[in-house]
Amino acid sequence: MKVLVTGGAGYIGSHTCIELLDHGHEVIVIDNLSNSHPRSLERVQSITQKELFFYEKDLLDKEALNQIFQTHAIDAVIHFAGYKAVGESVEQPLMYYQNNIQSTLILCETMQRYGVHHLVFSSSATVYGMDTKSPIPENAPLSATNPYGRTKLFIEEILRDWALTLPESSITLLRYFNPVGAHSSGLIGEDPQGIPNNLMPYVTQVASGRREILSVFGNDYDTLDGTGVRDYIHVVDLALGHVKALEHSFKSTGCDAYNLGTGNGTSVLELVKAFEQATGQNVPYQITDRRPGDVATCFANPNKAKLELSWEATRDIVEMCKDSWNWQSKHPMGYQTS
Ligand code: NAD
Ligand code: UFG
Repeated sequence: MKVLVTGGAGYIGSHTCIELLDHGHEVIVIDNLSNSHPRSLERVQSITQKELFFYEKDLLDKEALNQIFQTHAIDAVIHFAGYKAVGESVEQPLMYYQNNIQSTLILCETMQRYGVHHLVFSSSATVYGMDTKSPIPENAPLSATNPYGRTKLFIEEILRDWALTLPESSITLLRYFNPVGAHSSGLIGEDPQGIPNNLMPYVTQVASGRREILSVFGNDYDTLDGTGVRDYIHVVDLALGHVKALEHSFKSTGCDAYNLGTGNGTSVLELVKAFEQATGQNVPYQITDRRPGDVATCFANPNKAKLELSWEATRDIVEMCKDSWNWQSKHPMGYQTS
């Protein structure tokens, strides 16, 4: 199958390109490199020993997108491209609505023009809002608390409306929980710019000495040890979920949402302990105030993906920590380290 991967040079996209190539698919990437480095795709090709097509273009560039659809007889699209920083989205909402929503509209219009009806979209557990009880099923109420989350929520609605107009379409909304880890080669991984927002990259940067100390945001939540509980999922499991979703989309029609999570909750302190045990590294931490907007607990009910997509996560928290550290220790400055 010829698969267009938007945002394919990014963290989750690059891992998914590997699994697509390994499953015999042809991969065409469009990425403007606004949050990624071209080395990720060079390494995807050296890991798989297979070639992919890469277009350094913006999804908002209608003509460029048109050209790509004209050149390649695309069968399906996996749509990762977008901005993803919650704090930045609060400061620059219009930029988020423009980049995430407008680019999706342009993508859908182009797909429709070329008769491409299979789309897998990167949604997020953030669409479940603040008060949802875990484990969270897909039919839990949806809401969002910031512009980033609203872009995911609005795009889900847009895609549901679009699917209604095209009986032959198959649109899969994948709601990721907390992606961590890296490819076992240590050649590709997460490469946040500036100070990391997320827990795992912060932990690995403290372990490597790039940052001094981890701040644990609150230890007075109603959880086993008072710290926040999340459903961390290995990025390779997540990537494999996309391959399964893609295959399933050729046996189904309509628009459907799936959680991609493990179904297990891990607290911040449990993750720190697992990381120290798995890697032998020390992670100094201090307890600080809660981070505004955080929930105590958020983990998936992953049964629907297991039943309908024949997918489930198999990599545990120890493997997630080991692989995150393997990438970070080999590439302390991310893709800047050759
Ligand atoms: P990422 O930033 O590493 O990858 C996104 C890629 O899209 C980047 O390579 C960036 O350069 C590219 N891009 C952005 N805007 C573009 C545009 N207009 N045209 C072309 N390329 C563009 O992020 P990621 O962690 O790989 O996330 C991928 C998707 O998954 C995003 O949509 C994100 O919102 C979603 N998601 C991520 C997480 C997470 O924690 N990483 C959780 C839930 C959902
Ligand atoms: N945390 C710390 N210290 C840090 C960073 C995080 O204690 O330096 C804690 C948080 O308080 C939370 C847990 O670690 O309890 C996980 O935090 P992350 O920032 O790694 O992940 P979140 O679950 O808060 O957010 C992620 C994505 C969001 C997405 C959300 C829901 O970053 O984009 O999942 O899917 F909206």
